[in-house]
Order: sequence, then C-alpha cells, then structure tokens
Amino acid sequence: MTTESPVSPERTAGSLRCLGLGITLGSQLTILAREQLAAADVVFFHSNSHYLTGFLQQINPNLVDLQPFYQPGQPRCDSYQAMLDAVIAAVTAGKNVVWACYGHPGIASWPPHQAIRQLKALGYRAKMEAGIGADACLYADLGIDPMAEGCQQFEASQFLFYQHTVDVSAYLLLWQVAIAGDFSLTKLASDSHFIDILVQHLQQWYPPDHQVILYEAADLPIWQYRSETVTLATLPQATLNQITTLVIPPLRPKSINHKMLDQLGVPADHPLRQTRLP
Ligand SMILES: C[S@@+](CC[C@H](N)C(=O)[O-])C[C@H]1O[C@@H](n2cnc3c(N)ncnc32)[C@H](O)[C@@H]1O
Repeated sequence: MTTESPVSPERTAGSLRCLGLGITLGSQLTILAREQLAAADVVFFHSNSHYLTGFLQQINPNLVDLQPFYQPGQPRCDSYQAMLDAVIAAVTAGKNVVWACYGHPGIASWPPHQAIRQLKALGYRAKMEAGIGADACLYADLGIDPMAEGCQQFEASQFLFYQHTVDVSAYLLLWQVAIAGDFSLTKLASDSHFIDILVQHLQQWYPPDHQVILYEAADLPIWQYRSETVTLATLPQATLNQITTLVIPPLRPKSINHKMLDQLGVPADHPLRQTRLP
C-alpha cells in the first residue's frame, strides 16, 4: 500500500505569477515581469501610490487594487486571507493572473507564497519570479556587501517574539521596525513604547551609544534614499516610517576560528593566519 499523496494533474486554464515590481518605481522592473504584466488577463496589485496605478495602467489596464482589503483596525492576517481568496478565485475561474508585489514578492510577504502553495496543490500553474527587494537597494545605497562581514536579518516583531541570538560581528537588519512588537497585527504607525522595548532587548548585545542606521530606499527615481544615523538609545524618538529598515552595523570585527584553520590545514604563512587575535 502506498502512503504518497496523489499529485493533481496540471490544469490547462488558470495560472498565477507572483512577481516583484522592485522598490524604485519603474526603474527596477525586470523584462520578464513587464512581459508577464502585459500578458495577464488580470493584474492584482497594491496601490500604495497613485504613481504606481498610473504606471501599471500603461502596461495592462485590467487591474484589481488589493489596497481596499486593508481595513483600519482589522488584523492584517484577515486582510491577507481576503486577498488570497480573491486571487485564488480569479485563477480557478480560468484566468491567467499576475500578482504584482512591492519589492521582491517573497520577502516578508506571506500571501503570495501561500497562494502558490494552494494553487499548486489544486493542480494550477503557479510560480514566483524574483524582484528587487529593499535589501538589494540597501546593499547598493549603503555600500554593504552582506557576505563581507555577514548579515543577519529578521522581521522586527519576529525578532522580539522568538528566541534569537545576535552575532555582533555581522550586520543586523530589522525589517518593519516601525511596527516592532505589534502582536495585534493592526498597527500602521510606530509606537515608541514598543520601540523602547526593542531598544532594551538589543542592549543585551549593543551599548546604548552604538550607531544604527535608518534606511529608506527611494520609491521614485527622482528621490534620494534616506540614511540617517542615530544612537541605539535614541531610536524611540526617531522617525520610523512603514518603509524604514533598521541597519545595525557590526559592533566588533569578526574573529578568526584558529581551531578550524588548524583542522583545515591552513599553512602558517597564509593571509588568514596574519589576522590579529581579537
Ligand atoms: C512587508 S515588508 C515588504 C518587503 C518587500 N516585499 C521587499 O521585497 O522589500 C515591508 C518592509 O520592507 C522594508 N522596506 C520596504 N520598502 C522599503 C524602502 N523603500 N526602503 C527600505 N526598506 C523598505 C521595510 O523594512 C518595511 O517595513
């Protein structure tokens, strides 16, 4: 007797592509994404600016705005479920659907991942295409190579809710910092009480005078990015917007693992051996 679950045969009508629009409007759209936007029967998107609506209308006028699914005071998970249902209903009705998301469609974005899982299980063609997320802009604007020192990143509330440890010799990025600690999933604006708790939590690893960066990539090509340095202690008084990502630079240099170098047989004259002991 087999225990494998049956695989649904692929359906011919109805499909979903979840794609990223990039962060800076227009200039970060991939050729593939533009082609898929133009070819879709219907494009679901979030009208976070009227520039975006106008831009997409030129490519494909069959737009459905998901922004009205966000109701004031309603938990975001309920809004996400309603969006998901609307997108799935369009695909199961036989339409070739594009879900156009801000940045990369798969970063801090549960609904597109879930839509793809559900539709694949039902036998529909469903795929995600990479886009330029806020992290990609951040590395370019701030001149950070995430592989040089290492880079940890968390959604700020997840960082508070779960037991995480921090490597202070690497960068730490906290996404959605403005709403850190919002367990109600209803807040849109920053709450300095919660930011204070975040700062206290971070002080397990960093001193209060550690310099941190508030980063915002430009939404439009004519704007400049924001890179504001403040001390960790003053974070509760800083302006934290929905698009702010918190960048915490390393506190100290990374230290050599001498035991590992021995195990790997790294010779005594190798540059790695010249690194001073911390
Ligand atoms: C729900 S997540 C969406 C991320 C998006 N999918 C992406 O790929 O960038 C929202 C968070 O992304 C980050 N973010 C979005 N836009 C940004 C921008 N213009 N500059 C810096 N960070 C941004 C912020 O941390 C913000 O709170």
